[in-house]
Amino acid sequence: MILLALETSCDETSAAVVQDGKVLANVVSSQIKLHAEYGGVVPELAAREHLKNVLPVAQAALREAAVEVAQIDAVAATQGPGLGIALLIGFKAAQAVAFALNKPFIGINHHEAHLYSPWIDAEKMTADFAAFQPNVSLIVSGGHTMLVLVRAELKHSVLGGTIDDAAGECFDKTGKLMGLPYPAGPIIDRLAEQGNPAAFDFPRPLMHDANDDFSFSGLKTSVRYFIRDHPELMADRQKVADLCASVQAAIVEVLVKKTIRAAKRERVRCITASGGVTCNRGLRQALDAACKKNYFTLRLADKSLCTDNAAMIGILAERKLRANLPVANLDEEIKPGWSLA
Ligand code: KG4
Ligand code: ZN
Repeated sequence: MILLALETSCDETSAAVVQDGKVLANVVSSQIKLHAEYGGVVPELAAREHLKNVLPVAQAALREAAVEVAQIDAVAATQGPGLGIALLIGFKAAQAVAFALNKPFIGINHHEAHLYSPWIDAEKMTADFAAFQPNVSLIVSGGHTMLVLVRAELKHSVLGGTIDDAAGECFDKTGKLMGLPYPAGPIIDRLAEQGNPAAFDFPRPLMHDANDDFSFSGLKTSVRYFIRDHPELMADRQKVADLCASVQAAIVEVLVKKTIRAAKRERVRCITASGGVTCNRGLRQALDAACKKNYFTLRLADKSLCTDNAAMIGILAERKLRANLPVANLDEEIKPGWSLA
């Protein structure tokens, strides 16, 4: 079965071609530079950019996979959650292709797809469906922060999520307070390498609460007050690096502690993680150390598959189709607020 998948839920236009659990092509066109001057993703601009890029990106994926349009057996797209007018572009384009070819169409939940990106071996681009279940999966990006229990393939339940800002949003917003450009997450990551994580003490919200929820807006507010009260520090490169390292340490400690605790309670042996913030070196190292200490197998998505991509959409869509699960068809619409159960 050859499947074409499209992903346009936020600021990445992506198309992938998937065949029997293998990603033949995964093309991602990022809009980061476009949105940088506005300090965040502008939905209207994102949608226009998707409209411009969706067909060339799909054509590039087909070319790279050496697949003709007539060989496509099914088409998938992200149905939600995401920015409505951005989702609409990929979803309707995919439905149009499916309609024209008279092939099945599959609408996919973006968060559910994130659960599968750590399963894709970046070198072989092949998904290993047996190796990592059951697991507790951390999905952590600019738009979401959640812990999910994956009992088996296609069987999962959400354990908890953020009650306010996502972790990536916290990186980006605290970075903005420091005068860093958008998205600040990767810059804080780089600066933190030269800083002292114990230099400044920031709160670790909900870290000791018994639930699996997260909260990052209080941390952002305490960074705001810290900068207001110590403006002189911002002129000192080393102090800025210390601030980045201290903020990152607070975010990472909460994410790691809560993930490990959930995995212990759920008695799984494996932990997985994906989403843009999973690119963070501090988080990758801390998860690795905590998993080794507690004898968990850790499976992090490859950095190329942490951020939004159509490969994860295609891999999940193919499994759903094979399992005969109910999927969205040509009559369905996008679901911008579709939360994972
Ligand atoms: O998954 P993603 O591309 O998009 C969604 O939000 O869905 O994630 C983007 C987020 C941004 O908030 C960005 O700052 C953060 O991931 N991010 C990082 C790093 N790389 C990306 N945060 C911290 N350290 C990084 N290295
Ligand atoms: Zn995402």
